[in-house]
Amino acid sequence: MNTYDLIMKKRNGAVLDKDEIEYIVDGFTKGTIPDYQMSAFLMAVYFQGMNAEETTNLTMAMADSGDRLDLSKINGCKVDKHSTGGVGDKTSLIVGPILASLGVPVAKMSGRGLGHTGGTIDKLEAIPGFSTSISEEAFINQVNTVGLSIVGQTANLAPADKKIYALRDVTATVDNISLIAASIMSKKLAAGADAIVLDVKVGTGAFMKELEDAKALANTMVSIGKLAGRDVTAVITDMNEPLGNNIGNVLEVAEAVDCLKGKGEERLMAVSKTLACHMLIKAGKANNENDALEMVNRVIDDGSAFAKMKEFVNAQGGDADALEDCSKLCVTKYSYKVTGKDLFDAASFNEDVGYLKSCDNQEVGMASLVLGGGRQTKEDVIDLSVGIILNKHLGDEIKAEDEVATLYANDEDKLKAATQRFVNAYVLDKEPCGKNPIVYEVI
Ligand code: URA
Repeated sequence: MNTYDLIMKKRNGAVLDKDEIEYIVDGFTKGTIPDYQMSAFLMAVYFQGMNAEETTNLTMAMADSGDRLDLSKINGCKVDKHSTGGVGDKTSLIVGPILASLGVPVAKMSGRGLGHTGGTIDKLEAIPGFSTSISEEAFINQVNTVGLSIVGQTANLAPADKKIYALRDVTATVDNISLIAASIMSKKLAAGADAIVLDVKVGTGAFMKELEDAKALANTMVSIGKLAGRDVTAVITDMNEPLGNNIGNVLEVAEAVDCLKGKGEERLMAVSKTLACHMLIKAGKANNENDALEMVNRVIDDGSAFAKMKEFVNAQGGDADALEDCSKLCVTKYSYKVTGKDLFDAASFNEDVGYLKSCDNQEVGMASLVLGGGRQTKEDVIDLSVGIILNKHLGDEIKAEDEVATLYANDEDKLKAATQRFVNAYVLDKEPCGKNPIVYEVI
């Protein structure tokens, strides 16, 4: 077998067998296949696609490229969740404590932000003292005692994905269904949970822009899970605007705390509760969504979900008391209030009243990245304190004097550049317009 022949085979649209896919994944992980050949191979996959069998073989080869986490020492059914990535998506910080306070063990390995999308690990590191890298033994112990631990992926968990993802990121080969499905499912399979609930995002801020593509991605991941003997459900949710009010690391922690205290924004709560309900059903704690929803509402209302968040933060070395008043964590040197007039001017919109019709949500994510809240290169150090708080959502009426959002920054030039991107991201309409559904489908 040689790499050149396999690149040509895929480039010409032929189907690769299991051994051929393993040869590529193994060779690239070990460094015997160089970046330039792997880049060509990925581009061939991007244009020619992979069938279901090839995608499953790719996933398995990537899952087996490193260690598999052994969660057998954790009692009970371990249910994991994963989002395909979005803007303002802090649901793991909400769902984890809810599940743990209901007795479902959550042993979660999370990632950092990618491009315009945020990552749970960066968000958690915005809590003073919080450690996202603890030993495997401490991780397992914490899940057994507290019920929840969230850590960064260990270096040897699906290392093939780490290397392949870094290459996809710089070769315009991220948004391919087979490659995304294999990337996510290889990590999830290696991370050892019994059941997995996937949040597949669709819209302008997601990798999948169209509902049909999101459904295809969801179906692909569910069938890979089945073949691997895991119970997988996918929930397709809207990413045509940021999820919730806050974007940016510490701001998203603050919003997650609000949600756990029962003061969450409606659409964010709807996604978080839907995911939590499906996880409860998978764990055998609830028979149906109604029962599950009652349980979720109960632990939010009686304060036990927020108490669990504090216990979890404390167990990982974080300052749990700081969560009592997050405004002390959210401090930047500069801020700018975006008004309706700013949006009207950017869109040359000459009416007294407008409605937020749509937004390029990737651009909103990029505005947060430009503020310093995300990485332009892998080496960038992010500013955990910056971000955006939204006062308005799609479908809302806007007048010139209304406050639409506030941008927070520590650098005036970045604030100016981000504000420009933010105001240009929105489209206004003269006529009232409806809101997008928040949950499209459960697969
Ligand atoms: N998230 C992942 O982990 N991998 C992808 O390819 C896309 C989103």
